[in-house]
Amino acid sequence: MKENPNDYNNFHQNYKSISENVSAVYAKQYSVFKYIEHLQNASVLDLACGNGNISRLCMQKEAKKTVGYDISEKMIQEAKETEKEHSLGCEFHVKNAADIGYLEDFDLVLAVYLLYYARNKEELLAFCKVIYNNLKKGGQFVAYTINPFSTKSEPKNTRKYGYRLFFEEPCLEGSTYRLDLYDNMNANDFSEAPISLRCIYFSPETYEWAFKEAGFSKIHWHPVEVDPVGIEKCPDGYWDYFLERQPSHIIVGYK
Ligand SMILES: C[S@@+](CC[C@H](N)C(=O)[O-])C[C@H]1O[C@@H](n2cnc3c(N)ncnc32)[C@H](O)[C@@H]1O
Repeated sequence: MKENPNDYNNFHQNYKSISENVSAVYAKQYSVFKYIEHLQNASVLDLACGNGNISRLCMQKEAKKTVGYDISEKMIQEAKETEKEHSLGCEFHVKNAADIGYLEDFDLVLAVYLLYYARNKEELLAFCKVIYNNLKKGGQFVAYTINPFSTKSEPKNTRKYGYRLFFEEPCLEGSTYRLDLYDNMNANDFSEAPISLRCIYFSPETYEWAFKEAGFSKIHWHPVEVDPVGIEKCPDGYWDYFLERQPSHIIVGYK
């Protein structure tokens, strides 16, 4: 049987350092938490929680409860082991986010690097329905995903941010693109990426269709930002291309 290139059971060890690299900390985490309105005492559903790093941050920022779901047994095992070593009160479960159904009315639903794993429009819609159905009235969702407004393949210099994107030209709805993730940020290392994902391209209109169809009346797109601490820590100009290219975007909505 052909191996699924997006199966994190095969590269969960490589993801640990990726989830702690400068792009993850100063761009992803910073941008996600910037748009979360109320975390203190909130109940949080973290879809595609991976090793639980975002769930744990929610608890450190005084969420009342965080429940994480991921399709990969190995990622959830790692999340549970970390939780066992230093308990913050997170709960973790294995499940495809599309199949979660209704659990309860959460204050906040997160989908950090989930949506671009949808294999077709129906699965994208199923993710959006799970987000909608698990939010209380007035609750917020924050998603972080590959920026569908820009389909420029990356020059070599994004290697220093730990990723490279390769789109088909022209990049049409439903075409496959490649996302390589690296567990070291060595700009001169062009060896094969330990994680090389194959994703389906959905246009911004398709994202909007899926969220609307799920029940949201409006969604808001935001560009990725970099924490001033990260700008200070990295060499001058390090983030320039990243901010110009905007590899990721944040989507925010309310029920
Ligand atoms: C790039 S990791 C992100 C993990 C975490 N949200 C973070 O930001 O560090 C992507 C995760 O999505 C999970 N994933 C992919 N498709 C999924 C699905 N259909 N349902 C649930 N999790 C999924 C993978 O197993 C992997 O752990």
